[in-house]
Amino acid sequence: MDLDDIAARLGVPVEDVDRVHRLAGDRPSAPLPAKADAPAILDRLAVRPDDAAEIMAGWPDPGSPLWTPELHWLLDRSIALVRADLGGHVWLSPGPELPRERGPAWRHLYVYAYLALVDVVMGYHRDHGVADAVSWVTLSDLGRNLAIDRRMHREGWPVMQSWLTLHARGGIYELGRLQHHRGGTAIDLHIPESGPMTPEAVAASLDEARAFFPRHFPDERYTAFSCGSWLLDPQLLEYLPEDSNIVRFQRRFELEPYEEPEGLDADVEVLRFAFRTLTTPLDRLPRRTVLQHAIVDHLKAGRHWHWRRGSFPI
Ligand SMILES: CC(C)(COP(=O)(O)OP(=O)(O)OC[C@H]1O[C@@H](n2cnc3c(N)ncnc32)[C@H](O)[C@@H]1OP(=O)(O)O)[C@@H](O)C(=O)NCCC(=O)NCCS
Repeated sequence: MDLDDIAARLGVPVEDVDRVHRLAGDRPSAPLPAKADAPAILDRLAVRPDDAAEIMAGWPDPGSPLWTPELHWLLDRSIALVRADLGGHVWLSPGPELPRERGPAWRHLYVYAYLALVDVVMGYHRDHGVADAVSWVTLSDLGRNLAIDRRMHREGWPVMQSWLTLHARGGIYELGRLQHHRGGTAIDLHIPESGPMTPEAVAASLDEARAFFPRHFPDERYTAFSCGSWLLDPQLLEYLPEDSNIVRFQRRFELEPYEEPEGLDADVEVLRFAFRTLTTPLDRLPRRTVLQHAIVDHLKAGRHWHWRRGSFPI
């Protein structure tokens, strides 16, 4: 099968297949866990029963009729592509965005790739002395993302499939309330959806990171914490009370001057994180919280939200 054939059968642009071919080359893949072990692993990765059932139903058994040669090819080469960048911390697409409605193999191809990489990244963590408990909590962002994607009627996945390669390469560590992303001279902060982000929980997580990175990545030197987020938009101050967690989080940061980010629409990102939809018309969005009211009022007034970056010294 040549790359054009693979692309046509996958229903994706040939450039995307060519990219996988170039980046993965003939580098080593990694095997999936044994199917019999998979339910327990999915459970450790916080995958909910409905998602786990789908993943088990689409399992890439060698003889499975769901798995055509081009799907097998993409799975194998996607694992190799991500594995080749083990230890990397830059956003990385594991492969083309697939027509996921074609069935469980299509829907969860990059989940199977992630499962194959669990052993690989656990080995990387172990080499850095990272405790198993931190590894599993970090990697269990898979289950959280699958559940959110389900709530989003599967709109969320295209970003998630790239996001999760950070975890699979050892680029991100969940320490208490926050996820800490290695790279450069700043530890980049991400805030998973797991209840309110109280100042106490944030402070405790920052303290954990201050001890974690020098211990486990002694060759890396971090001088700041940074964050890029809708949460850092100062326009939120017009709407949220002074003592809200978002406002108190913002106060930690010194913002960089505003620049329109490339390829990212902050209005859409705000809908993603505060409504878990990208496409619902404004009039049909719920207004259950102060923030939801604020977002809708702001957009209805013809204004826009901003994605802001900021940092503060470690
Ligand atoms: C970041 C997050 C934990 C902050 O939540 P929080 O700690 O409750 O924040 P605040 O105390 O500032 O909340 C102020 C108000 O906004 C509401 N609110 C905050 N985040 C909300 C969200 N994502 N969706 C809907 N309402 C939200 C709160 O309920 C509260 O309103 P209320 O008093 O009417 O209940 C929360 O927004 C979240 O889980 N977001 C998803 C993940 C995310 O956005 N990560 C960053 C990606 S760049």
